[in-house]
Amino acid sequence: MGLSNTSIEYKKRIIKTWNEVAPRYHKRWAGKTIGPFQSTQKLVSMARIKSGNLVLDLACGTGAVTRQALKKTGKNGHVIGIDSSSTALKIAKKSTPYKNVDFAIFDAENFAFNQKFDVITCQYALFFFPNASKALANIKRALKKNGTLALAVHGAGDTVPYFSAIFDSVEKFIPDYLPSGAPDLDRFGTKNNLYKTIKKAGFTRIIVHEYTFWYSPGSFSAYWNNYLKYLAKPLREKLDKLSSKQKTELKNMVKQKTIPYTKNGTIKFPWKVLILSAKS
Ligand SMILES: C[S@@+](CC[C@H](N)C(=O)[O-])C[C@H]1O[C@@H](n2cnc3c(N)ncnc32)[C@H](O)[C@@H]1O
Repeated sequence: MGLSNTSIEYKKRIIKTWNEVAPRYHKRWAGKTIGPFQSTQKLVSMARIKSGNLVLDLACGTGAVTRQALKKTGKNGHVIGIDSSSTALKIAKKSTPYKNVDFAIFDAENFAFNQKFDVITCQYALFFFPNASKALANIKRALKKNGTLALAVHGAGDTVPYFSAIFDSVEKFIPDYLPSGAPDLDRFGTKNNLYKTIKKAGFTRIIVHEYTFWYSPGSFSAYWNNYLKYLAKPLREKLDKLSSKQKTELKNMVKQKTIPYTKNGTIKFPWKVLILSAKS
């Protein structure tokens, strides 16, 4: 079955967005171990990477998992990081000073290598793939027999209020804020859905751990201003079109949603993350 036009458009948009946001994403999130990025160590430990292993870090972004995987493979192993954003890959290359690593541009649904991998990792990306089952079939094919898949996804809906406080409100003012062909980014965000998806893809010995990390974006103003500062262009343009009355209403709606998490003027959000390991 061919790719639908909307899914091609969506992928193009994702590439453009990640090329734009990768530098700030690296600086603000992936280069640190705060909030959801406490998952990196846990994911790599669930992957049980051994010295000498060949590892693929799928949708490696700026290399957060790649660098931790390299510590486990040692000099005799090798890690390949692939992503569809050239800007993310450039940052990954620059910030990963190892000899036994390669970065390459590939789409998750269409990559192929001559060699098979001991371990494939994929952190915070499965939900971006419009045809995730195709990506999972690709992963399964690329793993050695009894190879390990280790992946992390964000929890769905209100389990990650950092996202839902803003997006549930934005949706009310800009119903088309997601590009056409966009998959539901929350669709793997419960233990049951994630488990079922991975099982359906033919993996075995599936283990899903749920974690709640904590993240403080500071005051409401800091949270809101940072959101506006780090926004990618397509949504920024839509927000700019709102009247100042609508903008104020939107900001107030978001603020209301942060109140349950605010104490002494500082927001502290819980952040659910699911980390899974499975065998090919
Ligand atoms: C939230 S970032 C995660 C990056 C990295 N794994 C980490 O933990 O920091 C999502 C990444 O998925 C990549 N991505 C999205 N769709 C993709 C696709 N179809 N194929 C390959 N990479 C994709 C983006 O370019 C981006 O770098």
